Amino acid sequence: MDQLIVTLDGPAGSGKSSVARFLAKRLGLEFLDTGAMYRGLTAKAVHRGIDPATEPHAVVELARHTDMRFDWQQDPPRLFVGNLDVTERIRDRDVTGKVSDVAALQGVRQVLVEMQKRIGKEHPQLVTEGRDQGSVVFPNANVKFYLDATATIRAKRRVEQIKAAGKRADLEQIRKDIIERDRKDSTRKESPLICPDDAIRVDTSDMTLEQVIEYLENTVREQMGMPQS
Ligand code: DC
Repeated sequence: MDQLIVTLDGPAGSGKSSVARFLAKRLGLEFLDTGAMYRGLTAKAVHRGIDPATEPHAVVELARHTDMRFDWQQDPPRLFVGNLDVTERIRDRDVTGKVSDVAALQGVRQVLVEMQKRIGKEHPQLVTEGRDQGSVVFPNANVKFYLDATATIRAKRRVEQIKAAGKRADLEQIRKDIIERDRKDSTRKESPLICPDDAIRVDTSDMTLEQVIEYLENTVREQMGMPQS
């Protein structure tokens, strides 16, 4: 099967997850949420009572011995850590609060980047989203995007998502969390969040979800010589 890998990188709340999922569907590709993998490992560490900030080596050891897989039969794919379905659990605030510390660990990144490369070989027709997909994991991707938006807009989008899931959300707190997570993601030594030189940068602040999806879909079709939908 020919490779068609589309990477979407960008900060928290830039709309990557929703965009990637719908874009994959429109283009008939599979969808990989790599943030979910860092979150899955974080959920397991929390469950074991391991604090990534004070026990980094224990988290790296955990990563090396963690069996993580997506069930691709489900839409969107569900994430299993061992036998446990953690798809909902990984969005909880305690996991969200610790995931940057986990994602900053070089040993953890080595393990998860390898897993993602393997997934790319098994599923070579893929829309993948994260922070380092175009820069580190799939440098030879066919089309690379970098999505961005202001922190306030991103916080508002997150609040909508949380409310839609029936939970309560504090906009100002979420905005602060987002700014702090951006700072950690872009200043960490290992694979900091960057816009790869060959990525198409899209500021989604004033765009609707539908507009972003349409723009990305048209761009991929044009660049890959696929018929327009
Ligand atoms: O996209 P998200 O909020 O689910 O990502 C969770 C965390 O994982 C966030 O701190 C960034 C980090 N991450 C990363 O470092 N590399 C990736 N490829 C995906 C996510």
